[in-house]
Amino acid sequence: MSNKMWGGRFGESPDAIMEEINVSIDVDQHLYAQDIAASKAHASMLAAQGIITSNDAKNIVAGLDTILSEIGKGGFTFKRALEDIHMNVESRLGELIGPAAGRLHTARSRNDQVATDFRLYVRDTIDQTDRALASFQRALVDRALEHADTVMPGFTHLQTAQPVTFGHHLLAYVEMAARDRGRFQDARKRLNESPLGAAALAGTSFPINRNATAAALGFDRPMANSLDAVSDRDFVLETLSAAAITAVHLSRFAEEIVIWTSPLVGLVKLSDKFTTGSSIMPQKRNPDAAELVRAKTGRVIGALNALLIVMKGLPLAYQKDMQEDKAGAMEAFAALSLAVRAMTGMVLDLEPDAARMKVAAGEGYATATDLADWLVRTLKMPFREAHHVTGRIVAKAAEDNLPLHKVPLAAMQAIEPRITSEALEVLSVQASVESRTSYGGTAPDNVREQAKGWFKRLEKEEGAA
Ligand code: ARG
Repeated sequence: MSNKMWGGRFGESPDAIMEEINVSIDVDQHLYAQDIAASKAHASMLAAQGIITSNDAKNIVAGLDTILSEIGKGGFTFKRALEDIHMNVESRLGELIGPAAGRLHTARSRNDQVATDFRLYVRDTIDQTDRALASFQRALVDRALEHADTVMPGFTHLQTAQPVTFGHHLLAYVEMAARDRGRFQDARKRLNESPLGAAALAGTSFPINRNATAAALGFDRPMANSLDAVSDRDFVLETLSAAAITAVHLSRFAEEIVIWTSPLVGLVKLSDKFTTGSSIMPQKRNPDAAELVRAKTGRVIGALNALLIVMKGLPLAYQKDMQEDKAGAMEAFAALSLAVRAMTGMVLDLEPDAARMKVAAGEGYATATDLADWLVRTLKMPFREAHHVTGRIVAKAAEDNLPLHKVPLAAMQAIEPRITSEALEVLSVQASVESRTSYGGTAPDNVREQAKGWFKRLEKEEGAA
């Protein structure tokens, strides 16, 4: 039997392999809510324009609502022979309301239909991601305020560089998440135009009202070019790029958690809630969740890559290649959603070892810059010279196997006679972080102020939502 949706000119049914490669229902059934919403908007518009009768439209809309609840309750059997969600829904509509179902497809095509459905789906995903990232930010801000005074080593090249506060470190990720959210919002703005009514590729001869369907589906306006409307998947690419960048941020944070919780480093502990044991080594506490966040980034970047490759050689307008836009993207969005939630959980769970952090912050002559700055400030030395003098003091400390603040004043004065005991005061890690009061710097007061500012911003957003 040929396909009853498009099989008019076909005498034979498709080969089993043809059906297998062509079928997309396993993936696009996840678009059912969007597909039905778009069909309802289309049917109502057709009636309002006098293209179908209002009685037919009423039956179509009621039938679509029945299908929505059937699928929602899991009581719908998707048929592979019907290829995709569009034809599964339309075929069921025929069973429910009879021949009037066949009028729904007037002045549209699966090409504008799928473009519309997927835009709606990606828009929903963006909104969910935004909410998840806001919760991630709230968790970070919470912990940042709690640890505004907790001193930890700051690293460059993964070498102890200068003391920072743990709160400051956490707020760095709040900033990243804010830009991530901004990228999703930018993508949403450009995405939010309706392809519906572009039909197969050329528009339609029926007097449709594309503004009406666009408005009914929450789009800002209809897309202006029918060829473009059915052809481009840049909205998926853009959202996947935002997702990939977000995933990279989360992955870097996850990597830090892996490093911090290593017994070799021991700056942070995760509880039983976010670690696993080893089946052979009883002492182990593995940061699996962090590792998996790091790994899931691969799926997101992979999906972006895959779709870029699918799209790069396609002429206008719709090509079946584009059916491959959904599986990877959906998988990537699910991976990102899980990664954001897992990171939020870990942020709330992690416990820094403040004592160990403080000791580690002072290791490796981490306050050497503070001494150089003191020489500049107090002795009016040019920074280059101060750097050199401090370098000699660090060398002396290393030779005597002493931390910087334990080098006797006399030994320092042998290198630079004008150094006074006042200089020793800047060498503690506490004094070091407290002195970093420049805008955006790590001083505890700065961190508190920034964290409070973020609280207000996030609260206001929530109130507005
Ligand atoms: N399943 C298709 C997709 O996801 C729907 C569009 C089919 N259009 C067509 N002309 N065969 O892309």
